[in-house]
Amino acid sequence: MDRYALFGQAVSQSLSPRIHQRFAEQTQQSLTYTAQSVAPELFPQVLESFFATGGQGANITAPFKTVAARYVDQLTPAAQLGAVNTVLPLGDGRLLGDNGDGIGLVKDLQRQQLLLPGARILLIGAGGAARGILLPLLATQPAEVVLLNRTLATAAQLAAECTKLGPVKIAQPQRLHHGVFDLVIQATSARSLDALHPWLASLRWEAAACYDLNYQPNTTPFLQWARQQGASRLSDGLGMLVEQAAYAFQCWRQVLPSVEALLHTLRRELA
Ligand code: ATR
Repeated sequence: MDRYALFGQAVSQSLSPRIHQRFAEQTQQSLTYTAQSVAPELFPQVLESFFATGGQGANITAPFKTVAARYVDQLTPAAQLGAVNTVLPLGDGRLLGDNGDGIGLVKDLQRQQLLLPGARILLIGAGGAARGILLPLLATQPAEVVLLNRTLATAAQLAAECTKLGPVKIAQPQRLHHGVFDLVIQATSARSLDALHPWLASLRWEAAACYDLNYQPNTTPFLQWARQQGASRLSDGLGMLVEQAAYAFQCWRQVLPSVEALLHTLRRELA
């Protein structure tokens, strides 16, 4: 049977195996998809061994998206900013790195009408997750994407790489005072954003839609906090998770599974 896998540092609770299994049933494909937690120092050799032994495709999650971009032989335009979440063998021993995160995010935002052209977007985070979503966000023609990150230098580096790609700026946290954003996206791996709350608290939250790339049953700490600040249009990242899985599934199997039906079922099962 064709083998697919997710590699990340702590993926035992991941929904991806369940999602891909359902896609396989839906499209009558025969495959296995497992989630493997990997220690950082072992990641390159685990990935190499997976493909050397016939693995047909991999998903990559935190903290390996940027490492994977350096490891593969070729990048698609979607992975151009140096973050890979989908890997495909090219058939000649080389690997192609792609990224469906941003495509999935934009589809989910548009489905929920949380993103219109000309939006002012605040993107919290500047790591592998933020790198993976930035290009598709820019393709929606926002007025600007402002990067807010705990480590200013990391945001400055990412913004510098985007100079020719679109209107990306870095937030000077102290100047966010009374900032008005149409959309705030939480793209950090932090359990809590305590370090950023003093600056975030001054935003006009009632004006912003809030999207957390993370998913957990009920709500995420960021969404709970944003609600307390006055935000009312909130979404977790379950829709993006299913969309990016469908994107990877189509890359690997050349058939696009139905997202709507599965998303509906998952929401019910996870409630
Ligand atoms: P990776 O970069 O390993 O792929 P990620 O999911 O993109 O992982 O998460 C990294 C992001 O989370 C970074 O923006 C990081 O901020 P720094 O650049 O300052 O490290 C952010 N992050 C992680 N822990 C955080 C915390 N406790 N508070 C605020 N931001 C945090």
